[in-house]
Order: sequence, then structure tokens, then C-alpha cells
Amino acid sequence: MPPVPTEQAKPLTLTLTDPQAYGRSFSETYDSWYSTVTDAEATAGFVADRCPGGVVLELGVGTGRLAVMLRRQGLEVIGLDASDSMLRRCPADVHRLQADMTQPPLRPGLDTIVLCGFNTVFNLASEHLQQKLFHRIRPLASVLILETMELAEPSGNGTRSVAADSQVGLKQVVDGTVVVTTTSQDAARQTVVGRHLEISNEAVVSRPWMLRWATVRQLDAMAAKAGFDLSERYGSWDETPWPGSVGNEPSVAISVYR
Ligand SMILES: C[S@@+](CC[C@H](N)C(=O)[O-])C[C@H]1O[C@@H](n2cnc3c(N)ncnc32)[C@H](O)[C@@H]1O
Repeated sequence: MPPVPTEQAKPLTLTLTDPQAYGRSFSETYDSWYSTVTDAEATAGFVADRCPGGVVLELGVGTGRLAVMLRRQGLEVIGLDASDSMLRRCPADVHRLQADMTQPPLRPGLDTIVLCGFNTVFNLASEHLQQKLFHRIRPLASVLILETMELAEPSGNGTRSVAADSQVGLKQVVDGTVVVTTTSQDAARQTVVGRHLEISNEAVVSRPWMLRWATVRQLDAMAAKAGFDLSERYGSWDETPWPGSVGNEPSVAISVYR
């Protein structure tokens, strides 16, 4: 039997902290793998209820999964993303802007509402970059809405990771293709480096990624440093109460800062 060719999606030297790294790994598969990963319709309804000006800036708009629903709510959407390959897939009725979200090329005083959904803030690979995001968004936004996964529970003054250091995660079979996820994390830096290995009959494709997680307590502190106050927090886009950090179970947190 001939060997199955092995493709590296991108060279191994690709730095995962590059703002374009996520798009390089996932733009081809994003829509088929993640179209229903969170409730896009409920997200758009939640944002529209808090957007009297009718303009929303979405950070990390990607292929437009959320932006399409925001448009259906009648909102103007400025969709910012670092990745040209993600943005190319985003519908043209979104004002697409290729930029790093820590350096948004927008005038202060825009006074828009800003949405950063589906853990996108965790794509920024250090606390420094996440703090920079809050500082840079503050002059642009009257309201900042973040959706994050609470991955760790606070313990004492520090944080304790709830996941093991290295894991082989979910194996999915999609149309005969197997996807194996491997992760390894650095608890001190709060970073996780992972790889989705997509194994089909034709090829093995490696899709590497990296995230730097933060607890809601840490996000609140970064937001406060930049001059934002927490005004609402929920456990879902349907406004169910946020359950807090519970045990080892990851929980969604929707945070609204003003
Ligand atoms: C998890 S995807 C979310 C896409 C979309 N918001 C959604 O919910 O389907 C994260 C997106 O953030 C983008 N991204 C990552 N780092 C970025 C950065 N530094 N500046 C701007 N966009 C970035 C990626 O290219 C990707 O499109």
C-alpha cells in the first residue's frame, strides 16, 4: 500500500503568535467545522439590543459567521481581522478591514459598540497584548462585549489550571475524515498550544494554533485598567445568569463593559 502523503498546512517554523496564524491554519475548514459552534442568531440579538447607533465593530470577524447575523438585525458591521484568507470568505456587505486588533486603524470618537466573540481575545498570545487591546479599544467604544470560555478557576492569589498539561482531545469523524486534537499547556503563562491533525484518505494536514486564556476576574482587571466598568455578565447570549467558575467544567461568560 502506498504511503499516505503528509502535508504540513504551513511550515513548522510558522510562529503561532503571528496574528495571521489562526487564519492560515483554519480558513479552509472554518465554515464546515465551526458554523454552529456558538449561537450566532442569539449573539446578534443581544448585540442589537445594546446598539442604538446601529454600528458594530467586530474584532476577529473571520469568515463572517456572526457578522451575517448582525447584518440581518439591520446593523452596519465593520469586520476587522488580521487574516486575509479568513476575510476573503466574509460577505461583501460587511465593511472588511484587515488589521491587527491591537492596532485598529480607526479614529477615536467613532463611538461604536465593539464585539469580540467566541474566545477571540484569547488569540492574543500574552497578557500584554490582551491589555493593549483593552487600551486601544477604549477610545473607540462606548460598549465592549466579550464572549470567553472560563477555562480555569481562581485559587488564592493565582490561578489554577483545570486541564492536564498535555492531552489528546476529541477525535471527530467528518465525512470519513478523522480529526485528532492534541494540546499542551503552560499553566504559568496561561497558554495552550494545540494541533488539529486532519487525517483523510488523501493527506494528513496539521493545523496548529495557540491561545492565551484569561479568567473573567483577570479580564475585568484588564478592562478596569483601561477605563471600562463591567455592566452585565451572563452565562449565555439568552441572558441566563452566569454560573461563576464551577469545578472543572468550562463555562461561557458573556461580559459587557462600558
Ligand atoms: C475563533 S475565530 C472567530 C471568528 C468569528 N468571530 C466567529 O465567531 O466565527 C478568531 C478570528 O480572530 C482572528 N484574529 C486572530 N488574531 C487576530 C489579531 N491579532 N487581530 C485581528 N484578528 C485576529 C482570526 O484570523 C480569526 O478569524
